Amino acid sequence: MTAGDHHPPDCLTIRNGRLFIEDADTVELAAEFGTPIFVFSHAQLAENYRRFHDAFSQGWSHGPVDVMPAMKANTLLATRQLLTNLGAGADIYSAQELDGVLRTGVNPERVSVNGGGKDRAHLRRCIEAGVRITVEDVREIDWIQEVAAELGTVAKIRFRVKPAIPNLWRRNDFTQLWVPIDLGYQVYKSGVPPEYLAEMGRRVFEMPNVELVGLHFHAGRHHPSLWFWEGLMVRFARLVGELSREWGGWKPQELDIGGGMASRRDPLNKEFSRSEFILTAVGYPFLVGLRGLGERLYHSLLAKILDALTEHPEPKPVPTIEEYAGAITRTLSRELLAQGVDLDGVRLQTEPGRSLYGDTAVHLTRVKVVKSQTEPIPYTWVLTDTTYFFLAAGVFEHNRHPFLVADKADAAPTMKADIVGHSCFADQIVLGAHLPEVDAGDVLAILEAGAYQESSASNFNSLPRPATILVRGDRAEVIKRAEGLDDIYGRDVIPADLLPDPVE
Ligand SMILES: Cc1ncc(COP(=O)(O)O)c(C=O)c1O
Repeated sequence: MTAGDHHPPDCLTIRNGRLFIEDADTVELAAEFGTPIFVFSHAQLAENYRRFHDAFSQGWSHGPVDVMPAMKANTLLATRQLLTNLGAGADIYSAQELDGVLRTGVNPERVSVNGGGKDRAHLRRCIEAGVRITVEDVREIDWIQEVAAELGTVAKIRFRVKPAIPNLWRRNDFTQLWVPIDLGYQVYKSGVPPEYLAEMGRRVFEMPNVELVGLHFHAGRHHPSLWFWEGLMVRFARLVGELSREWGGWKPQELDIGGGMASRRDPLNKEFSRSEFILTAVGYPFLVGLRGLGERLYHSLLAKILDALTEHPEPKPVPTIEEYAGAITRTLSRELLAQGVDLDGVRLQTEPGRSLYGDTAVHLTRVKVVKSQTEPIPYTWVLTDTTYFFLAAGVFEHNRHPFLVADKADAAPTMKADIVGHSCFADQIVLGAHLPEVDAGDVLAILEAGAYQESSASNFNSLPRPATILVRGDRAEVIKRAEGLDDIYGRDVIPADLLPDPVE
C-alpha cells in the first residue's frame, strides 16, 4: 500500500477514499466502537506467521523450525490464541506473560522463558510447566538445579549468549546519538558475557537435574539491514563453535536467534531526521546570536529552522520476512559448518516481535481540534482524542508512525501540522505531518500499531486505555474492552482517617 513497498499485499486497502482493514471500513469501525481504538487483522497475523515459518523452513534444511512470537510485543490473549492454534511457540519474559501463553494451550517445549533476575517461584513454575528456561544470570543455573531436584525432574535450559560484535560498527538506530551498533549493544544488560560461558557449561554438565539443550542470542533491532543480521550470525556461529569445542564436541539441539527484524513500514527511530544533530549543534550559537538583530528576524529564522527540523526523509524500504530468513539461515549454516558444528537435526528458532505484529494493527483516533498560530512562528496542531501514552513503547524507541486520514485516505497533503494527543504533555505523535485538510471529526489511522503499543499503554491523566477490536473479513469484535473509571481508580485506597466525617 505504501509507495515503493516491495512486500506482498497487506490487510490495508483504500476503497473510495476510505481506509479498509480486511473488508472492514475503518471509519465505520470508529463510529461503531468509538475512538481511540486498536484494530487488529486476523488475516495479516496468520499470514505473517505462515511467511515466517515457511521462509525459515525453506532456508534451514538441517532440522525443524520454530516461530516463537515475542509475547511482550503483544499480550492480547485472542491474538496469542490464534498463534497457538497455528502451532507457534512463544518468547516470554515475565511470570505473568508465561501464565498468559500457557492459558492458550501452547506447547511448553516451544516456550522460551527469557529475562534476567528470575526468582525461585518463577523458576519452579517454569520447570513444572516444562518450558525452556533461557538462562541470563550466572547463578541461575544453581537455583534451577535446586528447584528441579526438589521436583524430581530434569530442567531443559539454554544459555542466552552475548558475543562481542565489533564487526558491527555502523550507526545504531536505537539512539538519537551517533554511536556504533557494537556500543549500543554492549550497554544492553541482557545475555551472559562470554567470559562465564565455558565454566557455566562445565558446571551444568555435572548437574543431575539440568540439561543444556541449546544457545540463544537476541541482540535487538539496532539496524534493519541484512548486513546487520549477517554480522550478528557470523559472531553467533563463531561463539557456538568455540563453546562446542570447549565442551568436548557438545552439539546444540536448538539454536534460537531471537527477534529484532524490522516490520513492514518500520516506524522505529524516525522521529528526527538524520541531519538534526548537526543542524542544531551548528544552528544554536548562530540563532542565539541572531536575537541581537531583533525579535522579528529572530522568529522568522526560527520558523525556517523549525520547518527544516520537522521534515523527514521517506523511510527506506526494509527487507521482507523472506529476505531476512534467507540472509539469516544462509549465514548461520555456512558459518556453523565452517566451525565444524554438526547441524544434523538441529532446531532453528526465531522470536519475532515487531516484524510479526507491526503491520497487523492500526490505531484509530478522531480529530478533536485543529489549532494554529501565525505569530511569532506559524505552527499548526491536529489535536486528537488519543495520546502517545497509548503508544508508549514507541515513544521510548522514538517511533515515527506512518499514518493515513481514514476518511480521506487518497487525498493529497495540503497542510503541515503536528499530530498530537490530548494529554497535558507535549504528546507529539507525529511531528511535522503532511496531511490533507482535516477538521474536527476526521478519523486518523496510525499505522504499524500492532507491536508494543497496546501492550505498553498507560493511564497518564487518568485516561482510560482503549479497547481492541479483531477484524476477520467484514466481521469485527471486541477482544479487549476499554477501561472505565473503576479500572483507573480501582486499586486506590484512601485511608479511612483521611476521609471527611460523614455529614450528620
Ligand atoms: C529475548 C527477546 N526475543 C525477542 C524479542 C522481540 O524483539 P523484536 O520485537 O525486535 O522482534 C525481544 C524484544 O525485546 C527479546 O528481548
